[in-house]
Amino acid sequence: MILSIESSCDDSSIAVTEIATKKLLFHRKISQEAEHAKYGGVVPELASRLHAVDLPRLLEEAKPFLDDLQAVAVTNEPGLSVTLLEGVAMAQSLSIARGLPIIAVNHLKAHIYSLFIEKEATFPMLVLLISGGHTMVLDVKGFDEIEILATTMDDSFGESFDKTAKMMGLGYPGGPIVEKLAEKGDPDRFAMPIPLQHSPKIAFSYSGIKNAVRLLVEKHRPLDEKTKADIAAAFQKAAIAHLLQKTRKIFQQKRPKDFAIVGGASANMAVRKAFADLCAQYDCTLHLADLKYCSDNAAMVGRCAIDAFYLERFADALTIRVSPRTDKIF
Ligand code: KG4
Ligand code: ZN
Repeated sequence: MILSIESSCDDSSIAVTEIATKKLLFHRKISQEAEHAKYGGVVPELASRLHAVDLPRLLEEAKPFLDDLQAVAVTNEPGLSVTLLEGVAMAQSLSIARGLPIIAVNHLKAHIYSLFIEKEATFPMLVLLISGGHTMVLDVKGFDEIEILATTMDDSFGESFDKTAKMMGLGYPGGPIVEKLAEKGDPDRFAMPIPLQHSPKIAFSYSGIKNAVRLLVEKHRPLDEKTKADIAAAFQKAAIAHLLQKTRKIFQQKRPKDFAIVGGASANMAVRKAFADLCAQYDCTLHLADLKYCSDNAAMVGRCAIDAFYLERFADALTIRVSPRTDKIF
């Protein structure tokens, strides 16, 4: 079995996965959302202190599995350094105390593996990763063969939802709140610019939409409920149209047979619908993770670690490092 630890942002999570069967034997997660909501976003210092309290509580629950472990896996990049350190410190302690190898897991790769929890991995696949920190289209040919085809030049897709929610005083995290509000709004009352619409560039940019939201919020202050819903609807429509336009260009070039959406924002139903339509047009199969595995969790870390285990990609307790950024996904 592999015990996996996730603490890259505001979710403390531990899982235990059986290596041979890929079966998830134990999975717990404590989300810090309510704590950060007061501040309108994640406060790294607070997140770190909460991980220091919650991870040991989760490990205590996983105690019955500790004698059967063959490795300990932990997210070590990218993410918030001060929160990654909490998970890595726990992995180092377990590794030294129990003589276990460590598997250092890249968070973006873990999101890809959220598709394969309790399943075989299937490659090649084109993957759209949309989270609070990333907006990427990845050409995933195998565990070690991941090419970034497009990425964001500024804000991420999820972050733009968080910032939109913050500007309208709706709370944190903004994704689910804005999605819900958008369902009640008129997406056509306000014209929202679609970023890089006339540019051949295959990249994403969300700062322009954010600015458009800011101008609308300032113009219509104090915001009534209808205006808030209409802004949310216009924002979401433009945000998804941009995602779709650039991904369509990649579809035209690559003609993928299999396409997946992963990351926290892949829980968005309007996104799922838009890409289901795109995939239908291109005769491509759409793969989605179970809703409970879209946001950060240790189950996907454990699943990714199984493939790393078979490839003998082990890190060392004394040399493993955390990194806020990642240049490569492997
Ligand atoms: O993957 P994740 O849990 O953490 C990171 O790796 O960043 O993604 C969190 C992000 C947040 O920005 C959150 O607002 C966004 O995913 N998100 C959504 C939805 N649910 C979560 N964005 C749009 N629509 C949603 N339903
Ligand atoms: Zn994530």
